[in-house]
Amino acid sequence: MIDYENITDTLTKDGIIILPNFLDAKTTESLYQYVSTLPADQFDSAGIGRDNNFQINHEIRNDVLLWLDGKEPCEQAYLAAMDELRSQLNEKLFLGLFDYEAHYSHYKKDSYYQRHVDAFEGRSNRVVTTVFYLNNDWSNDDGGELVIYQNNSNEMLHRISPTFGTLVIFLSENFPHEVLITHRDRYSIAGWFRTDRPF
Ligand code: OGA
Ligand code: MN
Repeated sequence: MIDYENITDTLTKDGIIILPNFLDAKTTESLYQYVSTLPADQFDSAGIGRDNNFQINHEIRNDVLLWLDGKEPCEQAYLAAMDELRSQLNEKLFLGLFDYEAHYSHYKKDSYYQRHVDAFEGRSNRVVTTVFYLNNDWSNDDGGELVIYQNNSNEMLHRISPTFGTLVIFLSENFPHEVLITHRDRYSIAGWFRTDRPF
């Protein structure tokens, strides 16, 4: 069972939460099977994102992306959990989140994403970031950790291995972060809850 109260309480207090084993292992495994067997030409290079991807991402990242379209049953299960999370966040934190967009990322060996923030105040309607990891048996030697920094500082708050089933949730504007060079294939689902409030 997903403990939504713990999620909303911790996000209110810390702005970030790390949740191992977020979904049932079967759904996570299906997501991994699906994305890891897709032909490479299904993915876009990250520099060419969608119009509403405000992040300037040329040169600072070299993963490849595929937006979720909700056609696969495993994606539907994932998106249903995110929709429940969205309504819980709205109910408890009054964030006015109206939708969720998400893409798979494939970081091939030697890929990375340098330090960035997902949303800049006044420029984006991305309010809450989620990152969900699909990688079995990740070891410390594999690299590819997500490093979360204190805002406006080099102080490292978290160093998170992209381990199968872990979900990270944080307030998009508050936490600069980076993906360290990975030494093996690394799959994640990055997503954003958005608001339509005008900035
Ligand atoms: C992103 C991102 C982190 C990860 O796509 O904006 O920061 O661990 N992803 O995949
Ligand atoms: Mn990011």
